[in-house]
Amino acid sequence: MPTENLIDIKGVRHAYRTKAGPLPVLDGLDISVPQGEFCAVVGPSGCGKSTLTRLVAGLMMPDEGEVWLHGERVKSPRNTVGMAFQNPVMLEWRTILENVILPLEIVAPRMSRAQRVDRAMALLELVGLKGFEAKRPSQLSGGMRQRASLCRAIVHKPDVLIMDEPFGALDNFTREDLWQTMRDLRAKEPFTCVLITHDLRESVFLGDQVVVLSGRPARTQHILNVDLPADRTLESLYTQQAQDMLHLLRDQIRIAQGRDGGAH
Ligand SMILES: Nc1ncnc2c1ncn2[C@@H]1O[C@H](COP(=O)(O)OP(=O)(O)OP(=O)(O)O)[C@@H](O)[C@H]1O
Ligand SMILES: [Mg+2]
Repeated sequence: MPTENLIDIKGVRHAYRTKAGPLPVLDGLDISVPQGEFCAVVGPSGCGKSTLTRLVAGLMMPDEGEVWLHGERVKSPRNTVGMAFQNPVMLEWRTILENVILPLEIVAPRMSRAQRVDRAMALLELVGLKGFEAKRPSQLSGGMRQRASLCRAIVHKPDVLIMDEPFGALDNFTREDLWQTMRDLRAKEPFTCVLITHDLRESVFLGDQVVVLSGRPARTQHILNVDLPADRTLESLYTQQAQDMLHLLRDQIRIAQGRDGGAH
């Protein structure tokens, strides 16, 4: 299917098979993400957001519908995907540098050691971790570990970066620092991203679009185009335009949770 979008999710339906019978999780998911864009996904807890990340990564196939990545139907696990999670899994016996290099050892076995080190060091510098490359993961703060895990997720220049609540475990100020790091990283290292988050401010700060999923089984309930400037700052979140978007998203989440007050 020819497409200008890097990611195309069309009419996806899926049910998990459980002992108690099929559990419908996704029921009409339509999401398109153009190359280089950042798609934030919000929705009630347990609605199927992590399931969506597995579909994009090719870790599971939907019962119905299609997932396309770079004009190719996703039918098996993709190593052109980078992933970052809430609790970064870092190998304690490796230094930060060696942790960041790891994906290159797997997907770019012919790359020289010097090239790998250069690439990893450049990213570590971009996220403010220069000087920490020889430390072990346990010697870093949670925010620093998440920065390192971001470097590891994009070191092999994946087609798409998938982040499942990557900043969920961090305190508010550290989280806002990480948003700005993401913004700066993106300006220097363009990538296409799907970000799952519970934080509406995060979705508006980082997203080019915010997709609101309904309660389980999830369908695409609403798509908000975030037309704030690309070089947005934390101050941008206090503008009327941003506040209006946050209100709209809050209302959409209320509807998704089935608590819209005026339910018919
Ligand atoms: N492998 C599985 N087998 C059976 N049921 C599953 C499986 N994985 C997830 N589920 C169920 O599917 C539903 C959606 O799960 P998923 O993890 O995608 O939700 P989520 O939106 O990411 O939730 P949260 O906001 O809590 O992270 C949940 O009810 C979950 O219990
Ligand atoms: Mg989840």
